[in-house]
Order: sequence, then structure tokens, then C-alpha cells
Amino acid sequence: MAVDPIPAQVREYLDSLVPERPPELRAMEAHAEEAGFPIVGPASGQMCYLLTRLVGARRVFELGSGYGYSTAWFARGVKENGGGEVHHVVWDEGLSQRARRHLSALGFDGIVRYHVGEAVHALREAEGPFDILFIDIDKQQYPDSIPVAKDKLRPGGILIIDNMLWHGAIFDESDQSPATQGVRQATRLLTSDPAWTSTLVPIRDGLIVALRNG
Ligand SMILES: C[S@@+](CC[C@H](N)C(=O)[O-])C[C@H]1O[C@@H](n2cnc3c(N)ncnc32)[C@H](O)[C@@H]1O
Repeated sequence: MAVDPIPAQVREYLDSLVPERPPELRAMEAHAEEAGFPIVGPASGQMCYLLTRLVGARRVFELGSGYGYSTAWFARGVKENGGGEVHHVVWDEGLSQRARRHLSALGFDGIVRYHVGEAVHALREAEGPFDILFIDIDKQQYPDSIPVAKDKLRPGGILIIDNMLWHGAIFDESDQSPATQGVRQATRLLTSDPAWTSTLVPIRDGLIVALRNG
């Protein structure tokens, strides 16, 4: 059994540094807690928002959006950058409907575009380029998503991928499950290809942040 490499004390401290947020976003956090749904959480959300502001992103595409918690952080950044679009993609109709209610209440109606379906396929079909891509789908699909991301990001754009520490499972050599292998392989692809400049930021469950080199 893997041991989570990020101590709870560090995780809670990083979350506590995130400024107060709208009640609707708090309600989304409370729902995740009650339902045991794996949202990125406040510190990673703040990182997504920060990166959106830093690159002045106007076009963001998310793969694996759940009920829109991470989407809300990107949408806030895009709105403050002057407007644009954030693509919300999940294959579950119920989650997509729930996301529409939350994101509408947060004032992001004009910004979020909804797709119900398989996310890598949706990205392949989407018209690029994008300023930011965010990947949070099933981990065994991570390696297949990287070449599509490479194709759809503009030079100077940012790829963000969640769960790259996979709660410590990546360090357990006896864990050869498709999900853990998917995280390891995606990490190798990003850190060995000169098209990317990347690092792994140990917030919550580990975010890889990768610049698409020109
Ligand atoms: C980890 S949750 C997303 C959490 C979300 N990023 C957040 O922080 O609010 C991943 C969601 O994407 C869905 N999903 C996983 N793989 C997918 C795929 N290939 N295409 C579409 N949805 C996918 C899962 O069923 C789940 O609802």
C-alpha cells in the first residue's frame, strides 16, 4: 500500500493560503467532501487560476472536468483576462448538468463550452490552438493524451496534468497497474521530449506544469 508523499499538514497549510472564495465554490468543495469526489481542491485550483492569469490565457481546454470545480478556476482567470472560452469535457451527462448549474451561478455562462463525451477524442476534434490544456482523466489514458496535447497547444502554451504523484503509487515498484503505469509513462514522455519544459509541482497529488516550447 503506497504512502501519500505529501503530509496532510502541508496539504492543509497550502489550502489555507488560498483566499476566501464565493459560496458557490465552497459548496462545490463541500459536495466533493461529502460524495468523496476527487476535485483538484483549493491549492491546485489557485495554481490553475494563477497560470491562466500569467499566460493571459483566453482559450482553455479541460479533459476530465467532473462537475466543474477546476473549470471554475480557469473560467475566473479567462474572464479576468478579458474573456474567452473554457471547454468543459466529461463523459457523464449528470456531471455535465451539475457543472452547468454551478458555473452559471458563478457567472461563467458566456465562457464555458460543454461537451459530453470522451475527452481525448473531443480534444482531437476541437479547433486549436489553445493557451492552456488541463488533463484529469483516467490515468491509463494519460500517455495517449500527450501527443494530442502537443498538437493542440500553441507554442508558449501550458499543459497542466493532475495526479502525477498518484498518492505515492508511482514509487511502489510492485504497482504495475495500468493507472500507475500510465502516470509513469506520461511523466517520461513529458520530461524526455525537447518540445516540453516541465516540472512536477508537489501540490496536493502533484501537478505537472509543462511549457510547449516554440
Ligand atoms: C478526477 S475527476 C475531475 C475533477 C475535476 N478536474 C475537478 O477538479 O473538478 C475526472 C472526471 O472525468 C471523468 N473522465 C475520466 N476519464 C475521462 C475521459 N477519457 N473522457 C471523459 N471523461 C472522463 C471521470 O468519470 C470523472 O468524472
